Amino acid sequence: MAVATAFHREVVSGDPPEAIWPWPDDSCDCHCLTLRYSADEGGGGEVPPLPPQLLRAVPKRKAEFIAGRRCAAEAIRRLTGRTTFPGMGEDRAPLWPEGVVGAISHSHDRAIALAGPSGRFRGIGIDIERLLSEDEARDIARQALTENERHNLGNAIDPFMTGLIFSAKESLFKALYPTVKRFFFFEAAELAGFDANGSASLRLTADLNGKWRSGTEIAFRFCHSEGFLLTRILLPY
Ligand SMILES: CC(C)(COP(=O)(O)OP(=O)(O)OC[C@H]1O[C@@H](n2cnc3c(N)ncnc32)[C@H](O)[C@@H]1OP(=O)(O)O)[C@@H](O)C(=O)NCCC(=O)NCCS
Repeated sequence: MAVATAFHREVVSGDPPEAIWPWPDDSCDCHCLTLRYSADEGGGGEVPPLPPQLLRAVPKRKAEFIAGRRCAAEAIRRLTGRTTFPGMGEDRAPLWPEGVVGAISHSHDRAIALAGPSGRFRGIGIDIERLLSEDEARDIARQALTENERHNLGNAIDPFMTGLIFSAKESLFKALYPTVKRFFFFEAAELAGFDANGSASLRLTADLNGKWRSGTEIAFRFCHSEGFLLTRILLPY
């Protein structure tokens, strides 16, 4: 599903994050913000403090962190009326303020954050990826797709589907990690359903914590625009 309006404005580093909702469904009180950044130009705008883990990071890593935090802070402002930059936990998960749940992603020069009310959602995941080349897809398929998924793709290299499954699993990890509180790998879920209009689902193939048992289906949405693929997961109560 190509969404021409996903990134309709050329944003430069100093600009504020741009609000987008590139999916056809209701936003359910969530806010999605995106920002284009460059490691050479610095952050621009109000900048969050860097966590100790990043003080010696390369400029690109600092820039993507700052851009992601600026998107998150704007989503939080829209939700709560207060601008807060989420901190970084020891496990690298963002520390959202009370009443907010969300996720952050960055790829190449794009950062994105999606956040919503924690009273309504137990988890939120988002992931942005550049569309894969055939060589990249071959590598990613080896690490991120199960044997079953590779079989269902006819054991052929399918850059779009490989990127989609990879991205959806990263979104799933971000959405579930705060609840299950443990690391889980790519074989813990498989693509269960897919339609070309941008709706799809993953099925857990392993028991995680609590209600997240093998066989549970989790819906996700996807879209692509300007060479990027975007997946998102909202886990309502
Ligand atoms: C954590 C992970 C998903 C992040 O992916 P990435 O390749 O760095 O790419 P992204 O830019 O999309 O995401 C990075 C953001 O994820 C968020 N993140 C990192 N760890 C996280 C966690 N444990 N829980 C929630 N969000 C997390 C952070 O906000 C991070 O950005 P920041 O460090 O600037 O704050 C990935 O590195 C990873 O470890 N994957 C393996 C686990 C997995 O995906 N399993 C699949 C289960 S089916």
